[in-house]
Amino acid sequence: MTLPMNRREMLMALGATAGALASYRLVRAQEGQPHPLGSPGTYEWKKPGRPITAAIMGAGNRGRTYAGYAQAFPEELKIVGVAEPIPSRNEFLAKIHGIPPERRWDTWERAFDIPKFCDAIIITTPDRLHYGPAMAALSKGYHLLLEKAIAQSWTECRDILTLSRRKGSIVGICHVLRYTPYFRMMKHLAASGRLGEIISIQHLEPVEHIHMSHSFVRGNWRNTRESNPMLLSKSCHDLDILRWIADTPCTKVQSFGSLRLFRKEMAPPGAPARCADGCPVEAKCPFSALGIYLRRKTWLAHKDTPGDDDASIREWLGRTNYGRCVYHCDNDVVDNQVVNLEFGAISASFAVEGLTSYGGRRTRIMGTRGDVVGDENQLEVFDFQEEKRYLWTVKENGQIDSGHGGGDYGLVRDWVQALSRKDEGLLTTTLEASMESHLIGFTAEASRLAGGAVKSIDPLAVGHPAS
Ligand SMILES: NC(=O)c1ccc[n+]([C@@H]2O[C@H](COP(=O)([O-])OP(=O)(O)OC[C@H]3O[C@@H](n4cnc5c(N)ncnc54)[C@H](O)[C@@H]3O)[C@@H](O)[C@H]2O)c1
Repeated sequence: MTLPMNRREMLMALGATAGALASYRLVRAQEGQPHPLGSPGTYEWKKPGRPITAAIMGAGNRGRTYAGYAQAFPEELKIVGVAEPIPSRNEFLAKIHGIPPERRWDTWERAFDIPKFCDAIIITTPDRLHYGPAMAALSKGYHLLLEKAIAQSWTECRDILTLSRRKGSIVGICHVLRYTPYFRMMKHLAASGRLGEIISIQHLEPVEHIHMSHSFVRGNWRNTRESNPMLLSKSCHDLDILRWIADTPCTKVQSFGSLRLFRKEMAPPGAPARCADGCPVEAKCPFSALGIYLRRKTWLAHKDTPGDDDASIREWLGRTNYGRCVYHCDNDVVDNQVVNLEFGAISASFAVEGLTSYGGRRTRIMGTRGDVVGDENQLEVFDFQEEKRYLWTVKENGQIDSGHGGGDYGLVRDWVQALSRKDEGLLTTTLEASMESHLIGFTAEASRLAGGAVKSIDPLAVGHPAS
């Protein structure tokens, strides 16, 4: 039995710990020198003989992002068609990329009424419109760049995989985090043996409360039928990263979670359906649409408000979901969810949390030789044998040239290389690799709905488990 310490002993013990920590040498890269932790390997980039030609289905935020790569690197990628129902978005892309009228459509179906006219189709339509265009494009023999989530059910994901194999198409899934310098370095640390054998992983995705209200309560990803469960629409990235780091198939999952706050039962007394309709608590409500969009003018960037003056924003709030009270929306996706995972001998836990004041994924990896603590800006590695603490920062060691920490353009660069060199292996987010995170997501959601039942995953269900 351990005896309780008195105050003096406690202070001495704390002092000894602090002293020991302080004496650990912090090692970082010297200017112009390679980082002492090494760096992720890369393949030799080759200039394509001609630009890959592609048509975009859905010229919203993501469609325009990937089209931006063609603008920046016209010798690699050329956008030659667009399907988009919103005229201003269709026009915007057509103008920049010189797309002729006969290659412009108001909906994706039209693009497949004509014979194959380019190398690939980029699918950036809303989640519920991935399966249709993906199957149509593969039937016609196109390669694909397909936004996550792949589709809305495991059966649909399997259909896409089966058809892509039959047609020999290369399908890149937009798990952009794998292409960021930060997560590539994390993968390097796990794969290089630097941490010894991986014992366990903890990963948190703090969504940030206003982002939660904008995207998952009022916005496009609020409703499972319209989009997907949170684990697929938001966190398939995270499940994919966990699988990638663990480097072995997931064998069991268990999940708990719920929608606690953003429900009508939680509405303040007298709160009307829309914030502008005389809500008694509007001025104090952190989720007030008037506060977020009108007074602070935040989260408007990807929305087609008719103008940025107050009258235009009020008019927009009056007719769209973005003006609705967060307690009176048709949302059903969770605002908190935890998942326990078993990757063979590696245990892992994941949480996606809507009610945080901050964003930025946090990860801890525990290995037999050392551990890592990361926050998307830096990775701190402690080596147990050397008793040294190493610091790697994105600022000092990464190169960011696009959104998602550089992942957006990193993905397109590798996808273009894979297509032009006819080598799917140059892409780390192949359909097979990405299907695993989707299987984990669908299974974990089934566990949550079954009250947290432990569910086994058959790795063979995916087809080709890949890392
Ligand atoms: N990889 C990532 O990190 C990431 C980030 C955000 C979103 N996404 C995913 O990307 C996809 C697009 O998201 P977004 O943020 O660009 O949404 P968005 O709403 O900005 O864009 C989707 C576009 O598709 C268009 N569209 C709707 N019906 C169509 C039809 N029948 N034919 C052609 N176009 C149609 C819409 O008008 C809209 O312009 C979603 O599946 C989303 O989950 C991925």
